[in-house]
Amino acid sequence: MTLQRSHSIYNEIAVQDNDTVSIDVDALVRSVDDLMMNEVQSEVPVLTDASRHIISSGGKRIRPQLLLLTYLSLGGRDLEYAMPVAAAIELVHTASVVHDDINDHGMVRRGRESVNAKWGRTFALLTGDYLFTKVYDLMADYGRANRVVSDATTALVEGETLQAYAVKNNDLSREVYMRVIALKTAELFRAAGKLGAMFAETDEHTIEEMGEFGFNIGMAFQIVDDILDLTADSEQTGKTSNLDVDQGKGIASIVGDEPQDPMAAIKAKALAGDAIEKGRMLAQSFVNQAEDNLDVLPDGPEKEHLRALGRLVIERSY
Ligand code: IPE
Ligand code: IPE
Ligand code: MG
Ligand code: MG
Repeated sequence: MTLQRSHSIYNEIAVQDNDTVSIDVDALVRSVDDLMMNEVQSEVPVLTDASRHIISSGGKRIRPQLLLLTYLSLGGRDLEYAMPVAAAIELVHTASVVHDDINDHGMVRRGRESVNAKWGRTFALLTGDYLFTKVYDLMADYGRANRVVSDATTALVEGETLQAYAVKNNDLSREVYMRVIALKTAELFRAAGKLGAMFAETDEHTIEEMGEFGFNIGMAFQIVDDILDLTADSEQTGKTSNLDVDQGKGIASIVGDEPQDPMAAIKAKALAGDAIEKGRMLAQSFVNQAEDNLDVLPDGPEKEHLRALGRLVIERSY
């Protein structure tokens, strides 16, 4: 891959509105999507098909938005440079959900059949592997940024493994839960925030704060995801709920015909009673911390968009 140094993507997606220049975020996300769709082209058709199936199913694209809006907010304009890394981060996430649906017996993802439901577990496993190999390709020219991506990817695998281990040993305390979600989810968000700041060539403090911003949003995000897993149905979330809780009978009466994640009972316990309310409050406190982290950014539309992402994490229903 060759890196161009023109600012043509920026010029395409920057919208002049009176005195302010703002970014067309949908167009930004579409560019990341195009990059991913091209990147996963393989001579082995099933890999192309399964990869494009999961990429084109949608997804909120929060992680690339986090990276690119941080970059733009801090004055970065070379999207030709930053975008492949945003795509790489999103592909780490994409690979992780493809593998996650094998482990969790998830049959629906992003409102469509999961890769394992459509192609079976062998091809799902290999598609996830393939998506990880594309991260190497996208990151080949990015020097020390590779360390940030590899640390986050290692954390993700460690978090998933710790979780599976704790489930197996029936030992998922609140402390372990917090560690698991930090590793499996929040560290990738941290990487996105950090990389956006690093590429804008800002100071260490700003890089750390934007990493913290990502981390805090990521923690809130996973807590809300776990609450939704209990309180929302698949129709709403677009993915297999681990539980279908019959509200009338309370959280102890678990109904549902879908294959169940071994996390189900643990999540139910963790979030029983007033725990859903407590979980929401905890998520809110992470978002509040994240808001403070944003102080390092100059005022402007990108900063406001990042703030809105924080709020979306709490308010989302899918
Ligand atoms: C789902 O992440 C997996 C978690 C870490 C909770 P997202 O909710 O970001 O998934 P998509 O990309 O929008 O489908
Ligand atoms: C997913 O955790 C976290 C990953 C890193 C893949 P979950 O298993 O709770 O996520 P969903 O609800 O299936 O997306
Ligand atoms: Mg899982
Ligand atoms: Mg899952």
